Amino acid sequence: MEWTKERRYRSMDDVSNEEIEGLAKLVSQCPWRQSFHIQPVTGLLNDPNGFAYFNGEYHLFYQWFPLGPVHGLKHWYHTKSKDLVHWENVGLAVAPSNDYDSHGAYSGSAIEHDGQLFLLYTGNTRDENWNRQPYQCVAVMSQSGSITKKDFPVIDNVPSGYTDHFRDPKVWKQDGIFYAVIGAQRDNKTGCVVLYQSANLKDWQFVGELQTGLENFGYMWECPDYFELDKKGVLIFSPQGLKAEGDRYQNIYQSGYVIGEPLDIEKNELTHGIFYELDRGFDFYAPQTIQDPKGKRILVGWMGLPEIDYPTDKNGWAHCLTLPRELMIKEGKIIQQPAAGLELLRGEKTEATKVLNDESAAFKDFEGEVYELITDFSASTAEEFGIELRVGDNEKTVIKYDALEKKVIFDRTHSGQSFAEKYGSIRKCELDTETISFRIFVDVSSVEVFVNDGEEVFTSRIFPGKESRGIRFFSRGGQTNVRASKWELVV
Ligand code: FRU
Repeated sequence: MEWTKERRYRSMDDVSNEEIEGLAKLVSQCPWRQSFHIQPVTGLLNDPNGFAYFNGEYHLFYQWFPLGPVHGLKHWYHTKSKDLVHWENVGLAVAPSNDYDSHGAYSGSAIEHDGQLFLLYTGNTRDENWNRQPYQCVAVMSQSGSITKKDFPVIDNVPSGYTDHFRDPKVWKQDGIFYAVIGAQRDNKTGCVVLYQSANLKDWQFVGELQTGLENFGYMWECPDYFELDKKGVLIFSPQGLKAEGDRYQNIYQSGYVIGEPLDIEKNELTHGIFYELDRGFDFYAPQTIQDPKGKRILVGWMGLPEIDYPTDKNGWAHCLTLPRELMIKEGKIIQQPAAGLELLRGEKTEATKVLNDESAAFKDFEGEVYELITDFSASTAEEFGIELRVGDNEKTVIKYDALEKKVIFDRTHSGQSFAEKYGSIRKCELDTETISFRIFVDVSSVEVFVNDGEEVFTSRIFPGKESRGIRFFSRGGQTNVRASKWELVV
């Protein structure tokens, strides 16, 4: 059945139990359901929203269209966790219900105030001619977890100079004042971020456009996030409309950051260096961060991209969130490491070491569909060396270092069912290094690779056959020492 506007914008009140049960059954038959990633019970997941630590638990919401693998009427779905690793599905959190969010409870963020968790989100509306009008709305979650929407938006207009692409408030508190950055598009169709401030989360004043050095950098900046780390100011955002440049900006849309001095609120100005992509893989977008109770900065992203069909679509669902990552700053760049608690997933461990001499080798008990793998390559004289995983008769996913080009390469050309081929099947990233370590998390249909303790990350969905479980290590055109540890992961 075709996804007409009518089908995409139905209220859940008009959906029968049979339809939901039928969809849930279709989803359960999918061979690519994940095991330790947050994924939708049915339908489509996109941006992480409202990430917060509140009342002794982490809360993480996400954009959700319940009825199928398409972008329709968006809701917020609620998950929570005590350790950032084991997540519990709580259920529907925010449903579109009034004139200010009739066409979607779009992305936003959360902050604690007066003992409650305030959820600030964009209400997306359309008129009969499909013209868009965005509002910034609030819902409040109590200590007991009940969520109540406020009847009226807290920001009910778009300031002049900007189009109706105006959304995704990310709120923080500084010196007793609340601030929010909002993703925007100027009338001249370039992307930017604007700043608001508030004393109470209800009355908001428009401060103005956040001045950056990126005047003409894509046509829309989605999902901005501002924070300070190690006395630096960091602005994360997801610009749309950048052209591919060498190995960079290869995906349909980008996601990255600029870093510099802390935001000068008086001047509303951020002085910063160049824009870096946060992830060099195929499937990463719209991340959101929080500061955890220990003061660490944790990021979660959407492991997917807009406007791309995925192989799970035919089973009525799409996408998952990335693992949580801790952000640190090293030599003016963000490095990202898997959040500390992820070791909790580790089960049985297997280890191996070998000098590979122009060969490819498999090690005893190194195989599987779901695992963590840490591999160090050193003392290499080879032209290239690396790992093949999810290896089957005609399938393999390759992660390697090309010592001649000095690039890390992720190749999903033969990973299994192909998709998004228009955007290529190989991702590369320059890295000038003598030794390489890969820390890799493999789930049923994804791979996350942290290179050299998080200097670069490659996140990608893959859709191999169940029987493709092999792991091989290789060194070509010379020799390389390899040391590997693998853990079963148990949820
Ligand atoms: C980013 C985004 C946001 C918007 C949301 C709608 O993926 O387009 O800008 O709020 O998704 O689901």
